[in-house]
Amino acid sequence: MRKLTTFFSTLIFCYSLNSAYAGEVEVLHWWTSGGEAKSVNVLKKMLEAQGHSWKDFAVAGGGGESAMTVLKTRAISGNPPAAAQLKGPDIQEWAELGFLSNLNDVAAEEHWDDVIPKVVTDIMKYQGNYVAVPLNVHRVNWLWANPAVFAKADAKIPTTLAEFFTAADKLQAAGFIPLAHGGQNWQNATLFETLALDILGAKDYLKAFVKLDDKTLGGDKMVEVFRVLKKISHYIDSDSPGRDWNMATSMVINGTAGMQIMGDWAKGEFIAAGKLPGKDFVCVPAPGTQQQFIFNIDSFAMFELNKPEDIKAQKSLAKTILTPEFQTIFNLNKGSIPVRIDMDMKQFDSCALDSMAAFKASNKSGDLVPSMAHGLAVSEKVQGAIFDVISNFLNDPKAEPQYAAIKLARVVKAAK
Ligand code: GAL
Repeated sequence: MRKLTTFFSTLIFCYSLNSAYAGEVEVLHWWTSGGEAKSVNVLKKMLEAQGHSWKDFAVAGGGGESAMTVLKTRAISGNPPAAAQLKGPDIQEWAELGFLSNLNDVAAEEHWDDVIPKVVTDIMKYQGNYVAVPLNVHRVNWLWANPAVFAKADAKIPTTLAEFFTAADKLQAAGFIPLAHGGQNWQNATLFETLALDILGAKDYLKAFVKLDDKTLGGDKMVEVFRVLKKISHYIDSDSPGRDWNMATSMVINGTAGMQIMGDWAKGEFIAAGKLPGKDFVCVPAPGTQQQFIFNIDSFAMFELNKPEDIKAQKSLAKTILTPEFQTIFNLNKGSIPVRIDMDMKQFDSCALDSMAAFKASNKSGDLVPSMAHGLAVSEKVQGAIFDVISNFLNDPKAEPQYAAIKLARVVKAAK
């Protein structure tokens, strides 16, 4: 009897401890594809293991355009989630409006300043204070290829634009779709910025998409980017409009298409489908961008909350994201590389190791540039204006590259 009483009092004690501590975090994200869902689930499980509850707020749509619209509605009605996927300059804008909470205590306790590169922490801070937590580093300028398809077409995996067109012709002649692509704004912009990095080089890419210099935006090299974009579009199938990016990746996985130009979240899809790098699929830097690196950093911004237990849960979430355990499992599934610089990379594949090496080298050589298509370079407003020019150009068979570049410079000037 005494034993039973002790058991129950221990149980009641544990329960009261847990319920005093346990809180809920609602997390807004757009990770709904196979690889993405697997990745975000790791975080959910790790948070739940600490006694908190995770309220999933997934808004489908690669690139996050729809998620951002939903976030605004929720914030305006005074009911934002605890955490939301926000990127680059948008983090600053939300912080300036007073929505985000200060994470300096967690950051100091966990020594974030010592384990995360400054190029990343600068984005996570507003006026020197942490308001967001980075999850990873994605490299945007990758080309994914199906080696079996290439072998059948007797084509060589390209490293330059000239080689790309030679391979595309061979793939087409052999009856394959050369380039798998989804005609959605952000995917068009992803392809566009990858071409721009090759054709403009890192210095002029920065001038165009970070400094928003209108001479570079409307210059000859930008005309060339539009010209090449149009040429590439002839190697994409006519069912592409509206196609989701992961459906395009599936076309490479199942061998209907030869290649896809996409960030390394595509690797998450190959991995989720049980495919092996170097055997079932190949990753190479997008044509002409071997030394360069377009970075896309996923981060969760934390919103101001009222209930103490929810604030605790929110801080546990922030802390968990930067633990080496989470960084390993999440990034193995997501296709990205860890954002901590002190990680053991033993479990990572050759694509991730190449990405890590290129990230470090490009940071030193000045070839590390932020992604315009993924919200790391410009605000949502400027990004939207650029997206429209690119997609309108692609959708209009009569559009002139010369005019598109002039228009690009014009709309950016008006939007900035
Ligand atoms: C990006 C995001 C990636 C990936 C991709 C497709 O903007 O940073 O993590 O999920 O969208 O949804």
